[in-house]
Amino acid sequence: MPILEVKNIKKKFENTEVLKGISFDLEEGQTLSIIGSSGSGKTTLLRCLNFLETPDEGTITVRGEKLFDGASPVTDHKRLRDCGLHFGLVFQQFNLFPQYTALENVTLAPLLNSDTFSREKIIENGKHLLDDMGLADRMFNYPHQLSGGQQQRVAIARALALEPDILCFDEPTSALDPELTGEVLRVIRSLAGNHTMIIVTHEMAFARDVADTAIFMDGGIILEKGPARELINSPREERTRQFLSSLNS
Ligand SMILES: Nc1ncnc2c1ncn2[C@@H]1O[C@H](COP(=O)(O)OP(=O)(O)OP(=O)(O)O)[C@@H](O)[C@H]1O
Ligand SMILES: [Mg+2]
Repeated sequence: MPILEVKNIKKKFENTEVLKGISFDLEEGQTLSIIGSSGSGKTTLLRCLNFLETPDEGTITVRGEKLFDGASPVTDHKRLRDCGLHFGLVFQQFNLFPQYTALENVTLAPLLNSDTFSREKIIENGKHLLDDMGLADRMFNYPHQLSGGQQQRVAIARALALEPDILCFDEPTSALDPELTGEVLRVIRSLAGNHTMIIVTHEMAFARDVADTAIFMDGGIILEKGPARELINSPREERTRQFLSSLNS
């Protein structure tokens, strides 16, 4: 059974249909990269999966449990929050809380959400995650005292702290100076295999090398899907070829 089953997700803003029926499955431990031109609906899809946006139609099923069904959408806030906890999202702009230290950013949500772990255990886990991200000496720094690459690594630790089933990244390096992208890509790469991930990225070499499967989105549909290496090295569709060659020019 796939860990994630997405079926026929549709989303309109005013009169514009931004997602026109998105369907895909993802197996546990696999990494999916999503590529596509600006405005094709990539961020909207991630926001729908993370329950930050409500699709108009379709279903989202995690580990066999139907979390969202457009035919009978849930509006209860607690239920929405619980559903959202199956997913973690790392944003392009890090979105750390500026008034909290790196460690507080990582532990805040688990301290509010967990009734299974003690405060000590959550803090210990937070320190461990930051250590894994290469930030052992930065735990008590505030976001403004950190580089963009360090802030993004704190954001990744924060997403991991809630132990989501599926970890999503929305262009995690596009707000970074080129010399800082490497450290963030390395951290994401180290998570592959041990986590199920969906990565929206414009870094084609990364999308090809880190992911098992890739999707090319165009105008709110999945135009092409396949093994990441195949799709990016030798796409079948003319439109995918055009997109990839536009990046090289
Ligand atoms: N809240 C909103 N209200 C109205 N229109 C929106 C909203 N969010 C997104 N859109 C529109 O939906 C379309 C898809 O946007 P989306 O951000 O999902 O694209 P994207 O593929 O992530 O693009 P990019 O590569 O530039 O990040 C765009 O035309 C955008 O203007
Ligand atoms: Mg986007």
